[in-house]
Amino acid sequence: MSVVAAGRLAGSRSGTTPGDPVRYPPAPSSSIPDAELVIVEVASSAPGAAAPGSRDLLVRPAGPGDRAALEAMFGRCTPQTIYRRFHGQVKAFPRAYLTEALAGVPAHFALVACHGPRVVALASLRLAEPGSREAAELGILIEDDWQRRGLGRELLAGLIARADSLGLPELQAQMLTEQDWIMGLLSPYGECASAFSPGIREVRLRRAIPGEHGLPAGHRPEDERTQDA
Ligand SMILES: CC(C)(COP(=O)(O)OP(=O)(O)OC[C@H]1O[C@@H](n2cnc3c(N)ncnc32)[C@H](O)[C@@H]1OP(=O)(O)O)[C@@H](O)C(=O)NCCC(=O)NCCS
Repeated sequence: MSVVAAGRLAGSRSGTTPGDPVRYPPAPSSSIPDAELVIVEVASSAPGAAAPGSRDLLVRPAGPGDRAALEAMFGRCTPQTIYRRFHGQVKAFPRAYLTEALAGVPAHFALVACHGPRVVALASLRLAEPGSREAAELGILIEDDWQRRGLGRELLAGLIARADSLGLPELQAQMLTEQDWIMGLLSPYGECASAFSPGIREVRLRRAIPGEHGLPAGHRPEDERTQDA
């Protein structure tokens, strides 16, 4: 694995403080064949946060060696953040989910974002039916201190690029109805249909298959805006 790209600069909103130099430990082994590492530069602070922090994060596929760092990350998340991800008061990552996310199996692709030895986010793309390439579920958990800095947008783009490379026509996401703003992140990627149960919105995002509508694999809404500018 090697560093293949620098992420889009998402930090224009906050200004300017360069991040501290960050040292990364060796990546845990991953069985994902086309694994890539990407350095992503996020905003140095969330809007309204008191002090700017570091900006560089390493995003790479998750591996079995990430378990302890992810459990520590879970412990740093507020109950609200955990509730938003799992829609319940869970005390730890669901065991089967985490084991599968870290295993590098074809049915479950997961990315972690790292700040030095810390893992600060887990993003996953999990086939809705193992063995079927019809649909996959998206799930992202970012610890509180790293929210609202552009990381979620980057991780979503990474998952969607992966979904495109698998030729998945549909992506599914569940969110609290109070998180309507997530629709603004999803809808540029395709046609969204929503179903509601109390407090929860389930979204099915119909992804244009690469080649359809002239949409290349790995297309990001940002690319479109850049071209239009
Ligand atoms: C949801 C989540 C993945 C979003 O990631 P993020 O890094 O915080 O979001 P970003 O900084 O990339 O924000 C992208 C845009 O979404 C919107 N947005 C993000 N957080 C928002 C919030 N709390 N309220 C309103 N709008 C918000 C904004 O338009 C933002 O763009 P802007 O900052 O340029 O205005 C992250 O907050 C998270 O992990 N939350 C807890 C778990 C969860 O809710 N997961 C989603 C269901 S699986």
